[in-house]
Amino acid sequence: MNDARKAVCVIGWPIAHSRSPLIHSYWIEKYKLDAEYRREAVPPKQLEEFVRNLRALGYVGANVTVPHKEAALALSAPDDRARAVGAANTLWYHEGTLRSTNSDVEGFLANLDAATPGWDRGLESAIVLGAGGAARGVVYALVTREVQRIYVINRTAERAEALKGKFGARVRVAGWDETTGLMGGAGLLVNTTPLGMEGHPPLDINLRCPASLVVADIVYDPLDTRLLQVARERGLRTADGLGMLLHQAVRGFELWFGVRPEVTPELRALVEADLGKHPAVVEPSTPVDHPAIKKAMARRSKRNKKQG
Ligand code: ATR
Repeated sequence: MNDARKAVCVIGWPIAHSRSPLIHSYWIEKYKLDAEYRREAVPPKQLEEFVRNLRALGYVGANVTVPHKEAALALSAPDDRARAVGAANTLWYHEGTLRSTNSDVEGFLANLDAATPGWDRGLESAIVLGAGGAARGVVYALVTREVQRIYVINRTAERAEALKGKFGARVRVAGWDETTGLMGGAGLLVNTTPLGMEGHPPLDINLRCPASLVVADIVYDPLDTRLLQVARERGLRTADGLGMLLHQAVRGFELWFGVRPEVTPELRALVEADLGKHPAVVEPSTPVDHPAIKKAMARRSKRNKKQG
């Protein structure tokens, strides 16, 4: 690799399923950059060494995916978004410091802005299904757009309560049986649960609502979820999970390469075709085998032995 060539990777365990290399490689080619984007299969016990040695391994930054997003936050200097969500998915160096952000927040909003323009104009009330990691990003995003009432509906009420504790009085906890009733006054419904995803139960919900309701799903496998199909049949505007995946990638690319890339129909078609090719089951990952990581791990284990 020559000195000018920039390298970025996506870190996960497993990692074979990630579509990030496809998205970023498309942009690298489109903007004619001397760069490459790789997959790195990093088991949890190697994550700390990997992230601490990111630059030494030749990387100017990285994406981070499951199960490492919370740990990556602790290993970097997070911005407001990553801190609020409690998870980081994008790492980059700024003046020698490893910074992090959570680009799902921006991806969620940019996708809605692109697919359903004006969705937040006068929006007072939104319904969020689910209260996990993805819901934290969505709720924070809605708080930044000053949505007054965010109803969080979750199977486990305590997790919805925890979101209220984190984001304050705008968040209200409601039950599944209240969903249809709340739709009358809500401008946005977002599914952040895996319900409707390949291999999961369907999302069973009655869309009895005004025609102005915007429906967003973060599930992108299948691309056209039952929720989105029913919403469209009812004439509602929708934003899908693939749009969010593509839009969340924009920020990282801009931070690493200084070019703000465009989410084009051509890129969408490329990823759509790839989603069609891959079933849910993927090959197991082979762990990274970098001498620098092995050395760093051996040093840590020696230190730990000395201390303990
Ligand atoms: P993620 O980081 O992708 O959000 P997560 O933190 O595991 O993943 O959260 C998944 C969300 O989907 C949770 O709100 C979960 O509900 P619980 O908090 O009750 O676990 C919700 N979810 C997952 N499977 C579900 C199911 N079969 N029915 C209803 N909700 C479900």
